[in-house]
Amino acid sequence: MAESIINQWGQGVPADRLLRQALRTEKEMLPRHKAAVVERVYTFFRWKGCLNQSRPLNQQIRMARELDADFRSHAGKIPSEVLKQTIPDWSFNCLKVTREWLVQIQRPALVWLRSPRGGMHRLERFFRKDIQVVGEGPWRKAFRYFGRHDLFQTPLFEQGAYEIQDLASQCVGHFCQPTSGESWWDMCAGEGGKTLHLADLLEGKGCVWATDKSAWRLQRLKRRAARAGMFNYQSAQWETGKPLPFKRKFDGILIDAPCSGLGTWQRHPDARWTTQLDDVRDLAERQWECLNAAVGALKPGGKLVYAVCTLTRQETQSVVKRFERAHPDFIPWPWKGQEPHLPDCHGEASSKDRHGLTLLPHQWKANGMFMVRWRKTKD
Ligand SMILES: C[S@@+](CC[C@H](N)C(=O)[O-])C[C@H]1O[C@@H](n2cnc3c(N)ncnc32)[C@H](O)[C@@H]1O
Repeated sequence: MAESIINQWGQGVPADRLLRQALRTEKEMLPRHKAAVVERVYTFFRWKGCLNQSRPLNQQIRMARELDADFRSHAGKIPSEVLKQTIPDWSFNCLKVTREWLVQIQRPALVWLRSPRGGMHRLERFFRKDIQVVGEGPWRKAFRYFGRHDLFQTPLFEQGAYEIQDLASQCVGHFCQPTSGESWWDMCAGEGGKTLHLADLLEGKGCVWATDKSAWRLQRLKRRAARAGMFNYQSAQWETGKPLPFKRKFDGILIDAPCSGLGTWQRHPDARWTTQLDDVRDLAERQWECLNAAVGALKPGGKLVYAVCTLTRQETQSVVKRFERAHPDFIPWPWKGQEPHLPDCHGEASSKDRHGLTLLPHQWKANGMFMVRWRKTKD
């Protein structure tokens, strides 16, 4: 089965979607056999850059698994030159590639859950030893998951008691610091991971407008919101360059912008081999368009948050510099004092004003993420 999924992958559908489609129909297959298929597919993509592509696929998969076994038994001894082949050449022009990062993205990604209001105790009772709370304060709703359940199939999932959401994505919601009663626009809401989080942090008071250019993603958002019992939101299909679907102004705008996704290369190793340098340039431009679309829709004093799950300079720092030069009426909104306190995790301030935060996968054991926040001074 792993071979057939890898063969289909060349046609543009991401590996995680192919895996979900293929395994959903295998009702008789044992969970550990399903896990073995997932492991083979992801191991292949993690080591793809080191494999001899002229060999038959089954031999390449075997080779990938041997490399992986070596790596797991003594990661410290794997030469950096080998690790460098696990990412595409163009990426070396976009960020400072460190050995720590390369080692981290060769490991299977951890699974993180978020429990909305009221879901936490049910989660602890149901999963028991399979989950662990990661931190204090708001982070008591972030759980690391260790078990082998199909997390999309449990009764608690159906009841909306948790969302499967990476820790770095959860950090974006907290970084927005919404307060109860505010109005927020989640501009690139996609399937609503962050819309749901913002709505939860608003404690049911206030409202989130969710827009996205993709109608099918917004459909999924509606299903998720219904499951979570979340009704303080509105959604509309919209994309940059088109007239806004509302006339109002917001207390806060989150731009979780389309990006090259380098920060997710641990969780989605196949994405390393689909993105190109040209995409990085195009996506930086798209992010700039999104930021400009937000400017007029924010109230004076309003909060603007820009987040991307990537680490390329072209998209992160360069976009921020360009925006700050063009819009001096947006002033840094420092996060000092509100940074998340998690054991063994620390983010790096990505600006001297401390209004930016970079989360690196080897520091957070989660996706890489870059985020910056400002306040608007006047209209
Ligand atoms: C990083 S994803 C958002 C993920 C989502 N916020 C979540 O937490 O699940 C970026 C989203 O931007 C949308 N998008 C891409 N280009 C866009 C544009 N020009 N205008 C509006 N949305 C866009 C994509 O459809 C995609 O859903």
